[in-house]
Amino acid sequence: MSNMDSKLGLIQQSFNSRYFEWVWEPLDELSDNFTIANPSISGHPIVFASRNFLKMLGYSQEEVIFQNENIFQGPKTNGRAVMETREANREERGIQMNLVNYRKDGMPFWMLFHMSLVFGKEDWRVIHFVAVQVPITRRKRGNGGVSLSEEASS
Ligand SMILES: Cc1cc2nc3c(=O)[nH]c(=O)nc-3n(C[C@H](O)[C@H](O)[C@H](O)COP(=O)(O)O)c2cc1C
Repeated sequence: MSNMDSKLGLIQQSFNSRYFEWVWEPLDELSDNFTIANPSISGHPIVFASRNFLKMLGYSQEEVIFQNENIFQGPKTNGRAVMETREANREERGIQMNLVNYRKDGMPFWMLFHMSLVFGKEDWRVIHFVAVQVPITRRKRGNGGVSLSEEASS
């Protein structure tokens, strides 16, 4: 079995053993930006990325699935905020904050990052982390939208 096949097997398992099999298709049709990570797989990888999330970031499914979420971070990402997300992961609690992320083409943008936990109904252990990423357009009074690069240099 190829490496990718075994990864896909793990991903399928991570859904099928916990949710009904039909969950994948409806998830794929939702129009929001969101990702799902599985903490029971080593490295805490993303096992699902919504279409709009991929479109917003400019990545393909293959480039994101099974990757660590910090591929979206860069020099303008606040290190303290990243530390807070890491702690929230470790302590298994939800978190919401503004965060700078980067598109694949290197363009930074602000987003509201909201992460919640999904608990298994048999044992109430955390089975998935769901993150929603909402892009923010910052506005200065009377000056329309201000891009991150303009803001960073002002
Ligand atoms: C489901 C999920 C989705 C995440 N999505 C993002 C994201 O879109 N952008 C981001 O900067 N961090 C995201 N994170 C937070 C990163 O996981 C976190 O910053 C990273 O794990 C830091 O820890 P590490 O550097 O030790 O891996 C996400 C976390 C989870 C659990």
